[in-house]
Amino acid sequence: MNIEEYKRPEPRQPEARLSEWFSPAKRGVGGWAFLLHRFTGIVLVLYLALHFYVLSYLARGPEAYQAALNFLENPIFVALEVALIAAVIYHGLNGLRLILMAYNIGVKHQKAMFWVVFVLSALTTLVAAVYML
Ligand code: HEM
Repeated sequence: MNIEEYKRPEPRQPEARLSEWFSPAKRGVGGWAFLLHRFTGIVLVLYLALHFYVLSYLARGPEAYQAALNFLENPIFVALEVALIAAVIYHGLNGLRLILMAYNIGVKHQKAMFWVVFVLSALTTLVAAVYML
């Protein structure tokens, strides 16, 4: 094709792209797996900041740290901890699924692998919750 004949495609509208994030309509299993991976990744980064904040109480002495730990025994924080475990396990297992796929292993079975990851994450979280609650 002659370079003068080339017609640049119209750029997609940013609004359309943003709405696609929230649309379940066109999202397959792989799309949901990706969204969950990104969401749990962001949750883990935010948790890391919170974790350092709680650890910073150590610098204020053992009493201050113990007071912080006592505060975190609140059932709301325990429930959030269970959700954190779910996020860690899903992100880690799905991360392994993504690494396999990056090496072209199991790409044809990516949906089945997602369900294995999902069920394993749910079961592990359930076991952890039974121990914690
Ligand atoms: C078990 C350990 C982990 C494994 C195996 C893992 C694996 C991965 C992989 C393979 C990706 C790339 C996803 C892609 O190509 O689309 C990724 C993305 C990411 N991970 Fe992890 N990860 C782990 C732990 C963590 C931790 C501890 C954090 C946070 C402190 C984290 C935060 C993120 C974030 C923010 C992204 C970017 C997500 C995105 O762009 O959609 N990950 N992880």
